[in-house]
Amino acid sequence: SQPSAAAPAAEIGVIGGSGFYSFLDDIEEVRVDTPYGPPSDPIAVGELAGRRVAFVPRHGRDHRFPPHRIPYRANLWALRSLGVRQVLAPSAVGSLTPRYGPGTLGIPDQIVDRTSGRDQTYYEHGAAVHVSFSDPYCPAGRRTAAGTAKTAGWDLADRGTLVVIEGPRFSTRAESQWFAAQGWTLIGMTGHPEAVLARELALCYTSLCLVTDLDAGIEEGEGVTMDEVLRVFGENIGRLRTLVGDVVKALPAERSCPCPNALDGMKLPLELP
Ligand code: ADE
Repeated sequence: SQPSAAAPAAEIGVIGGSGFYSFLDDIEEVRVDTPYGPPSDPIAVGELAGRRVAFVPRHGRDHRFPPHRIPYRANLWALRSLGVRQVLAPSAVGSLTPRYGPGTLGIPDQIVDRTSGRDQTYYEHGAAVHVSFSDPYCPAGRRTAAGTAKTAGWDLADRGTLVVIEGPRFSTRAESQWFAAQGWTLIGMTGHPEAVLARELALCYTSLCLVTDLDAGIEEGEGVTMDEVLRVFGENIGRLRTLVGDVVKALPAERSCPCPNALDGMKLPLELP
């Protein structure tokens, strides 16, 4: 399951859309296999401002994996096997409140899992492993991302609750209004199980949510469309890429957050890469 000894190492991982290839220098493509199959595509390892970064296109290079088919376990396992310990996860999301319009950057601090049937653990056999997940994201990563986005002038939601739906359909108006009535603010399809799998590998994980639309409950007319999501994402991908690069540069070299200790005291039924 390990990459060959010659595989290049990285310390920071980015899981994002295919628009992210171009932000790394001196890219080497690595094919990594894992006990969970191959990741979405070969991993691009390169350099950014002196930091070694590994990039996985979440949906595959040609977008062949819809949200419910993404090999989430393989993607995070592969990143860890290359040495990655901090992960940045940009994605497109809808907004559940008119306060956060298209173009806003959301850095959620909570998740509500509304997915079903996705493989969401590495610890299926051999021993019970229950990671803490009350705070699903890395506090240091969130702080770094919020500071960087503020400096860059983003409309920023520096906290919030991300509802992750199974998809691939968008929500009904009633579902959307129900989510909003709980006080939840962002909605997407890929944030779970990515975050919990990162926690199960003791990785730092920070979600960077680009708001592309107002979800059905607050949108007039026909509601969210895929066209709208793709158009707004396309309009913002340049500055999102710049932001992710700036966050990479600003991430701490040494981790002093709780994330590395996520598995302390647990008897693991498998060896982490
Ligand atoms: N991704 C982008 N916009 C979304 C929405 N409104 N619902 C779910 N996922 C999304």
